[in-house]
Amino acid sequence: MPQIFPKALNPIARVIVLSLPIIAASTGVGLAAFYRSSYATGVGETPPQPVAFSHAHHVGQLGIDCRYCHTSVEISGSANVPPTKTCMNCHQQIWQGADLLEPVRASYKNNTPIEWNRVYNLPHYAYFNHSIHVAKGVGCVSCHGQLDQQNLTTQHSTLLMEWCIKCHREPEKNLRPRSEITSMTYSPATLGADQKPLTWKKSDFANFGKLPDGKENPLIGQPRPTTQKELGLLLKEEYKVRDNVTLTNCSMCHR
Ligand code: HEC
Ligand code: HEC
Ligand code: HEC
Ligand code: HEC
Ligand code: HEC
Repeated sequence: MPQIFPKALNPIARVIVLSLPIIAASTGVGLAAFYRSSYATGVGETPPQPVAFSHAHHVGQLGIDCRYCHTSVEISGSANVPPTKTCMNCHQQIWQGADLLEPVRASYKNNTPIEWNRVYNLPHYAYFNHSIHVAKGVGCVSCHGQLDQQNLTTQHSTLLMEWCIKCHREPEKNLRPRSEITSMTYSPATLGADQKPLTWKKSDFANFGKLPDGKENPLIGQPRPTTQKELGLLLKEEYKVRDNVTLTNCSMCHR
């Protein structure tokens, strides 16, 4: 087929196409509102799933830790959805005849993974890393909400750039002791209601509180603040969280 436009036009066409977002953005408030709408961001959306898996039952009622299933959150940039084998650890015995679990048994028998629909999805040009957030004391609940109360998983946050930046400006508002990363009910004041006064635990620190010279972190056993303001600032020091200029630098997330 002959070319409809001469090749020389292509750069101009490119400019027009490339400037479309700018033109669109400058048409103002209406579009800005659309961009932030739940329709565009997916907030509150609950994708259908091949199995009616419930975090409310498994986390809220049975008390299974996130890391039993999402084994890579602490060690890898991306989190994983568990393989069927993990489900069968229990469901070979529990509810083994239930219709609800038929797709799980079929997946196990045929050695084909269950095709879960993604709930959280960033555009590929934004870089995200789970393990660093977890290592620096940002809890799952800060980004994914109260999964212990969700049956089907619902998208909790917008994942918009402004959402990321808001926390990168003031991370101290969201930092918690590492030992509480997966807790859905933690609050700085109530942690260890049975334990008074509240003290630092070995698991709150990297390497179980062992400092590079082999000595124990002197905070262990000491009383720890119970307000987010004090605790957040202390943890920011302790976990060596970088300053907000560095954390909001474009190249942090666009590499
Ligand atoms: C018994 C296993 C199990 C446990 C425990 C568990 N999950 Fe999940 N999780 C799953 C499965 C299976 C899916 C995929 C189905 C879905 O999206 O609901 C999933 C999906 C998710 C998703 C959505 C992933 C996506 O598609 O974007 C998030 C976020 C998540 N889990 C976080 C957590 C957190 C936080 C905890 C602990 C509070 C937790 N999970 C505990 C099995 C588990
Ligand atoms: C540590 C044990 C354990 C693991 C691991 C586990 N389950 Fe369960 N599951 C249970 C128990 C116990 C129940 C019954 C819960 C109830 O009746 O409240 C259950 C119930 C269910 C049900 C019935 C509906 C409901 O939520 O009550 C489904 C579906 C299910 N599990 C799917 C899964 C899938 C899929 C996985 C793997 C991602 C998984 N389970 C992993 C223990 C487990
Ligand atoms: C700082 C915010 C933040 C924290 C904290 C966080 N997540 Fe996520 N999570 C995300 C984002 C953003 C995505 C989407 C990543 C992408 O699309 O590349 C995601 C995706 C996921 C997925 C889906 C991965 C996949 O490949 O399908 C799971 C599962 C998950 N998170 C579990 C967890 C668990 C468990 C914790 C706590 C140990 C946790 N997350 C803590 C922001 C967070
Ligand atoms: C609730 C708070 C919070 C939210 C929300 C959040 N972050 Fe972070 N992020 C942090 C903290 C704390 C660190 C650790 C900073 C440090 O180590 O100095 C961090 C670090 C990072 C890093 C540095 C990784 C590295 O290897 O150096 C990247 C990249 C990043 N975040 C991307 C994102 C993106 C993209 C989003 C939104 C999708 C996001 N973050 C949302 C708190 C947050
Ligand atoms: C903490 C992480 C983070 C930082 C820092 C960051 N971005 Fe982003 N950016 C994102 C995420 C996540 C998206 C995708 C979600 C969205 O469209 O808002 C995005 C999207 C974008 C987009 C395309 C979507 C849009 O907003 O129209 C542009 C352009 C962009 N960023 C430019 C920048 C520039 C310029 C900077 C530095 C001033 C910057 N970003 C800093 C996380 C970040």
